[in-house]
Amino acid sequence: MSRLELRHVRKAFGGLEVLADISLRVGAGEFVSILGPSGAGKSTLFQLLTGAQHGGGEMFFDGAPLDDHGGHFAFMPQRDALMPWRRILDNVTLGLEVQGVRRKAARARVAPLFAEFGLAGFERHFPAQLSGGMRQRAALLRTVVQERDMLLLDEPFGALDALTRTAMQRWLEQMWRHHRWTALLITHDVREAVFLSDRIYVLSARPAHIVREIKVPLPRPRSLGGDTARQASVEAEILDIILNPEPNPQPPKGYDHD
Ligand SMILES: Nc1ncnc2c1ncn2[C@@H]1O[C@H](COP(=O)(O)OP(=O)(O)OP(=O)(O)O)[C@@H](O)[C@H]1O
Ligand SMILES: [Mg+2]
Repeated sequence: MSRLELRHVRKAFGGLEVLADISLRVGAGEFVSILGPSGAGKSTLFQLLTGAQHGGGEMFFDGAPLDDHGGHFAFMPQRDALMPWRRILDNVTLGLEVQGVRRKAARARVAPLFAEFGLAGFERHFPAQLSGGMRQRAALLRTVVQERDMLLLDEPFGALDALTRTAMQRWLEQMWRHHRWTALLITHDVREAVFLSDRIYVLSARPAHIVREIKVPLPRPRSLGGDTARQASVEAEILDIILNPEPNPQPPKGYDHD
């Protein structure tokens, strides 16, 4: 049974058809990526999962219809979304506090993780006093400490410079191997998707449908340079799918805008 399963999920904003037909699944402990062009509807898909938007189709969690959206997912939005007036420690505890954990208990729970996330000594700093990569790590730490069933990461490294991004990708991969989170990552970076994922769904441009599902057949740990022949060929295969998309299929019958 899949942890998360979407069947024919669709979404329109007024007359703008954004998601045409999305069916996908994520198994427990699996790292899955959604790779798609800008404006395809990827963040919209996460909004449907977190309950911030409503659309058509069916969503299941551990085999049951998904209703308690907030309860299952720890969500890292596309922008790091740290609150500038809260110290890093208090930003990291925010998700737990929203869950009803008292601030003192939340602080005790997150404090030992600052070292693991490369943030030791910066607990009392404000976000503006940290580098971009540190802020992203703090946002990720805030996400994972919530101990939800599944991580939703929306282009977590999109705003970083190339060097910091590479370091963060390596670091996330190590953390994932250690913790085996069930994770769904949105990215438009082919190399990042191949480096991190067990499986990849390639999305079309808007209105989005799944163009291809690709199982990444590479052992871990992987290199980030695509410097093994197999890894380079997986990357090339995906690039080819993106650059030479098949024509859009017709939307399913009975399609309605909602
Ligand atoms: N609340 C909204 N109301 C109206 N239109 C919206 C809303 N949210 C998103 N859209 C539209 O839906 C489309 C998809 O947006 P979305 O943010 O999901 O794209 P994306 O794939 O995440 O893009 P990017 O890679 O640039 O982050 C865009 O055309 C956007 O203008
Ligand atoms: Mg987006």
